[in-house]
Amino acid sequence: KAFVRDAVANQLVEYAEKHEGEKNSITTNSGNPIGTKDASLTVGYHGPTLLQDVMLLDDLSHFTKERNPERVVHAKGAGAFGYFEVTHDITKYTAAKPFAQIGKRTPIAMRFSTVAGERGYADTVRDVRGFAIKFYTDDGIWDIVGNNTPVFFVKDAAVFSSFIHVMKRNPVTNIRPDYDMFWDFVSLRPECTHQTLITFSDRGTPKSYRNMHGYGSHTYSFVNKEGVVHWIKYHFITNQGIQNLSARDAQRIAGENPDYHTRDLYNAIATKNFPSWDFYIQVMTHDQALKSPYDPFDLTKVWLHADYPLIPVGKIVLNKNPTNYYAEIEQIAMDVAHLIPGVEISPDRMLQGRMFAYRDTHQYRLGPNYNQLPVNRPYVVHNYSRDGYGTTNSQGGAPNYHPNSFEGPVDDKRAQALSPSIPLHGEAKRIDSGNDDNFTQPRLLYVRVLKEDERQRLVENLVEWLKRTTTVIQLRAISNFEQVDKTLGSRLKEALHLDQEYHIEF
Ligand code: HEM
Repeated sequence: KAFVRDAVANQLVEYAEKHEGEKNSITTNSGNPIGTKDASLTVGYHGPTLLQDVMLLDDLSHFTKERNPERVVHAKGAGAFGYFEVTHDITKYTAAKPFAQIGKRTPIAMRFSTVAGERGYADTVRDVRGFAIKFYTDDGIWDIVGNNTPVFFVKDAAVFSSFIHVMKRNPVTNIRPDYDMFWDFVSLRPECTHQTLITFSDRGTPKSYRNMHGYGSHTYSFVNKEGVVHWIKYHFITNQGIQNLSARDAQRIAGENPDYHTRDLYNAIATKNFPSWDFYIQVMTHDQALKSPYDPFDLTKVWLHADYPLIPVGKIVLNKNPTNYYAEIEQIAMDVAHLIPGVEISPDRMLQGRMFAYRDTHQYRLGPNYNQLPVNRPYVVHNYSRDGYGTTNSQGGAPNYHPNSFEGPVDDKRAQALSPSIPLHGEAKRIDSGNDDNFTQPRLLYVRVLKEDERQRLVENLVEWLKRTTTVIQLRAISNFEQVDKTLGSRLKEALHLDQEYHIEF
């Protein structure tokens, strides 16, 4: 069978066709034309290279700095550009500008990712997938930085770094996954049970980034023009349909084509097969939140659709590939703290912790002026920040202190009106929320949502990882799964031969 070249393979061919005959002169990074590209300036054929070979110095000294630190999580990813379009009026919930009228379009950038692997990791491994959207709105940048799952493993930011450590490489062996680290932690923190079941279900190995739903996961809030606040959750339902890889195919493809999802996204957009998702929200009032049988701000729990139905909002469409991956996707800086008037946060402890982490990491990863990089740049910025490494924004000579008498920017009255006052009371203390009904919702998932064949594959996938840890940890993990459903526990025990002596084989 003839080898078929896809859009990814043809990227250079297409470039050449588009630019036929152009033949620009090569220049240094300072734009100075170069006469001979492929030869160092040496004294004779075998002589040493001269320090005055500024062309070589320019090239090598740029090359040695071509990489920045990778994202500490979600390092491997792919992205694209497109738009968000409003299809339904939700102005009774929010005064945020992107929702102002039906038909309004807001440009977006999106980045999908795996969580635990490094920048060159295989796309198809069992993992949660990142689902992050940057909206370029009239009120500046708004980011929804979510996942392809409605819940997360842990629910307090104080536990997050430990959770990530157990997903990453063992610091001694430099091997991942380290099954002891993972199951030890997950079994000691039973709030992980819900997300563990989802990750080990078929959804842990999506067929492509296009074939999965997206979720804001956290509870956020919307503020309408009267200043009334509602709690909300974001849902993005794929129009490509949910499709997953079998565990075996996912593993095979990880070896044969580690960039499988990256390639799929690029090819789909290049061939005008534009992926799209329908955007919905769930809405909860303040009173409903007070009466809710589960904590509506607990990231390990969903809001049941029967109680809080999905309300249609609009659609997101991806129709443009990046022109340079590094500039536009590697350097994209998604941040849950990029909020616009009409959109606020909630008391969710994880979200509260995230309010700190993203700006902090971007300043380290991309420098203090990462917001001035073209992909991150809002339409307008007027403030009193100046200078710093890599700045390009002089703000037109406006004063750099406030208050001032020289026409510097002033408070925004609309943003003020849309800032809800937050009544707070209680004692400041550390309350471990880890044991707050960890099994009711996983039980609904296992017993009601999953079909028997899906349950069977879930058990097989769990066993594939569980069999590699110690018996003590296996038994502890299974005691959690037993609390989800007795038969889940017994199926795992049977598959792991836990009544017999067990030898770990690799
Ligand atoms: C990326 C921290 C929880 C979704 C990141 C990055 C950090 C981070 C430092 C790298 C960002 C960058 O370098 O650009 C945290 C902390 C968390 C947390 C401290 C909890 C306290 C979550 C949760 C979700 C999530 C719960 C999903 C619901 C993402 C996504 C990315 C990311 C999608 C990749 C963004 C991109 O594509 O550029 N996180 N994270 N994170 N995080 Fe989190």
